[in-house]
Amino acid sequence: MTTDPKIKEARDRLAHARSVAVLTGAGISADSGVPTFRGTDGLWRNVRAEDLATPEAFERDPRLVWEWYDWRRTLLASIKPNAAHEALATLEARQDRFHLITQNVDGLHHLAGSRRVLELHGDIWKVRCVRCRRVTDNRDVPLALLPQCDSCDGLLRPHIVWFGEALDHKVLEASVSAVESCDILLIVGTSGLVYPAAMLMPTAKANGAVVMEVNLDATPYSAHADFSFQGCAKDIVPLLL
Ligand code: APR
Repeated sequence: MTTDPKIKEARDRLAHARSVAVLTGAGISADSGVPTFRGTDGLWRNVRAEDLATPEAFERDPRLVWEWYDWRRTLLASIKPNAAHEALATLEARQDRFHLITQNVDGLHHLAGSRRVLELHGDIWKVRCVRCRRVTDNRDVPLALLPQCDSCDGLLRPHIVWFGEALDHKVLEASVSAVESCDILLIVGTSGLVYPAAMLMPTAKANGAVVMEVNLDATPYSAHADFSFQGCAKDIVPLLL
């Protein structure tokens, strides 16, 4: 148990909040060994995520894009949630009004026991047919390269929101409404650079929420947050409960 007064104050606020929203990004899974997107460990064959996670890249070279996802799925298959994911599942269990919004597609929040998860950018363990658009679970590791739809033989793609694509409007609306109505928004491990996720913090602030941030480094959120804790998610998030 920490004696840091700011941590104690944040813990007290969370314990008395009526409604809590949490926004997570790649940093929460970094402590489990998942590479972040904008860190140097996020590069694959020296190609940036921004150059692979696009509809144009898939159209140009679906095999290359699937090879990248296969690499990531293989890595993720042996990875476990950490103390930060687990603490958020505990927070959900004790809180009636709770929403966990994540930009992560790794499924680690579900594995940790979180149930009410809004996945803004999709799920790496789901695939979608480019022809009939059917979405199915797929946990094959390794994947057959250029996997095909069981119903129509169309090409399958990852069920992920790529750069330049629109988010699922229902998931986005639920996320906006969660941050509009929360007393506290807790932001964990996101660089705050990718929209529309990046506008959730100003929306929460504009509606009077207290904002808490946990990140290894300073981010565009840090100066505006009511509480900004620098350090590893797995060490700090459990202290907030
Ligand atoms: N604990 C807390 N924060 C950490 C840790 C850690 N152990 N390790 C890294 N971080 C922080 C970094 O300081 C950085 O601010 O996590 C953040 C990760 O930032 P990004 O790699 O940009 O990831 P994210 O914000 O989730 O990216 C958003 O961009 O590429 C797209 O769709 C992809 O969902 C992703 C989106």
